[in-house]
Amino acid sequence: MNTELINRVKNTFQEKFGGTPAHIARAPGRVNLLGEHVDYNDGFVLPAAIDRATYIAFSPDNSDQTTLVAADFNQGASLSPQTIPSKTQTDGSPLAEWAHYPAGVMWALSTGQLATPGLNAVYASDVPRGSGLSSSASVEMAFMIAWQTLGGWMLPPMQRALLAQKAENHYVGVNCGIMDQFASACGVENKLLLLDCRSLEWKTIPLPEDLSIVIADTKVRRALTSGEYNKRRAACEAAVQSLKEDLPDIQSLRDVSVEDFNRLAGKLPQVVSKRARHVVEEIERSKQAEALLEAGNIQHFGELMNECHVSLRDLYEVSCPELDVMVRIAQSLEGCYGARLTGAGFGGCTVNLVAREQAEQFSQSLAKSYETETGYAPEIYITRASTGAELLKL
Ligand code: GLA
Repeated sequence: MNTELINRVKNTFQEKFGGTPAHIARAPGRVNLLGEHVDYNDGFVLPAAIDRATYIAFSPDNSDQTTLVAADFNQGASLSPQTIPSKTQTDGSPLAEWAHYPAGVMWALSTGQLATPGLNAVYASDVPRGSGLSSSASVEMAFMIAWQTLGGWMLPPMQRALLAQKAENHYVGVNCGIMDQFASACGVENKLLLLDCRSLEWKTIPLPEDLSIVIADTKVRRALTSGEYNKRRAACEAAVQSLKEDLPDIQSLRDVSVEDFNRLAGKLPQVVSKRARHVVEEIERSKQAEALLEAGNIQHFGELMNECHVSLRDLYEVSCPELDVMVRIAQSLEGCYGARLTGAGFGGCTVNLVAREQAEQFSQSLAKSYETETGYAPEIYITRASTGAELLKL
């Protein structure tokens, strides 16, 4: 829990609206260990909610108007159900980009006939933006909790996650899968979450006690990543359409075995084939995760993480030079079982599975070598798997 950030949203609330907020909610970001770019292909993912989150301080406003303050941007916005479809504020001016996330949540809830009563709200986050740690899902899930608290309705966490995904797909315009909103909604302390993105069944897997998850932020951000992301998803859909000629029963790349893919890959355009190969092989890797972790075979699990990075770099082409440097250095350091980029890619963070005893030393050496090689000062920290989005007890 970041008490400094909680105090910040409380104090900003006091300044902007007067009085203390009635509620504070928190919704975490996530890190993903295995199963990258497979959620929208019905695959398996293995994320954990992290101990960085969006915090929102809010009170009801006795109208249907919601007044927001994004403390991180020092900007405000004012929304109502009437202005949502046109992406404008109540005064008719366009909504700033950051406001599309809360506005999208309001829109998605209204499509489900769920009340979004007026709020006065201040929010801030310590999930770095654009870093592959799902800062946007954490904002969405924080607003879900706020409207659920005041709206007189209650949904199971997975249903809230699905509505937030709908907001992101149809309001924000990123064709993302369910992983990020799921992890932010359903996180469990000290546990990894294994989700079947087709059936939406999930279970927790304990992280072995002698391991640490280390997040390494390259500090590099790429612009226009949502366009590239949507292109990757379109390539997967194109692959399914072509492969259906020979495999008429497939619904998604989840249904294509590695053997069938090897036999048929030559029929696909080259780029489509590379994208689809990553997905088919990554789903195969993620299927092995549970048994390996349960058997304590961390060595092999780490190798799968390393293979995943190579595949994201060479086949899916979502890495960048700085991510590759961060991964290469990490893999050469003592105590590191596996390292790879996490999240959508195109800059952002890597995830590293490291022997607990060596995690501090690992983090320091990685930071030093990365900075020497790239000139960027990274941010490297040991994370803890945390609980999902929740209303805090004040
Ligand atoms: C982003 C998306 C997720 C997922 C990852 C890649 O984080 O929001 O749905 O596709 O990229 O695994």
